[in-house]
Amino acid sequence: MANRILITPSILAADLGHLQEEIDSVADHADWIQIDVMDGHFVPNLSFGAPVIKCLKTKLPIDVHLMVTNPADRIDEFLAAGAKHITFHAEAVEDTKSRKALLEAIRKGGATAGIALNPETPVNVIDDVVADVDLVLIMSVHPGFSGQKFLPDVLEKVRALRSQFPKLMIQMDGGIDATTAKQCRDAGANNLVAGNAIFSSADRAAAISSLRGS
Ligand code: DX5
Repeated sequence: MANRILITPSILAADLGHLQEEIDSVADHADWIQIDVMDGHFVPNLSFGAPVIKCLKTKLPIDVHLMVTNPADRIDEFLAAGAKHITFHAEAVEDTKSRKALLEAIRKGGATAGIALNPETPVNVIDDVVADVDLVLIMSVHPGFSGQKFLPDVLEKVRALRSQFPKLMIQMDGGIDATTAKQCRDAGANNLVAGNAIFSSADRAAAISSLRGS
C-alpha cells in the first residue's frame, strides 16, 4: 500500500461565494480537490456541474465524485472540464458490462477511474470490477450533504478491501475529522476526503496535517 496518506478537500463545505480563494487556501497543503456532483435524484441534494470546474484555477488534480444517476452521460463533460479522477457509484451502474465500459471511457479520457460504495452497500457488490479500478471510495456518510456524522461500521469494509488489495487506493469520504481520520488510516484508507474539518478551520494547513496524522 502506498504509505503516503492523500488528503482531498471537498469543496461542498467551502465558502462557494469565494470558491477560488478557498481552493487557493488548501492548494499548498492538500493532494487532490474533490468536486461533489449531485443531481438531486441519486442523492437528495443538487450541487454543481462541469461549468463550475471549468472556471477553477488550481494545480491540484480535480477529483470528481459523481453522485448521479446515469453517470455515463456525464463523463465527457467532466473530462473536458479537466477532471483527473472520476468516481461513479456502484449503486448507479449495476451491471458488469456497463461498469467496465464506464471505467474504460474515463481512462480513455485521461483520468483515473474509481467506484464508490454507499455505507449500506457491501463490498462484494463490486467483486466484478474491483481488480480493474484505480480507486474504491468507501462512503462513511449517506451521500448528499456535508457536516454529517461519521458511520464507523463502514471501517470493516475498508479493512476487508485492504487485506485483499494491499496496493489499492482506498478513499473514504464523509464525517472525517482528526479523530475519525485516525480510524480510517488504521483501517487502511490512504486517501481521505474532508469538507467541514478543513473549510471550517481558520488554519487549513494544520487541519490537513491533522487528517494526515502528521
Ligand atoms: C457527502 C459528500 C462529502 C462531503 C464531505 O455526500 O460526498 O464529500 O462533502 O463533507 P464532510 O467532510 O463535511 O462530511
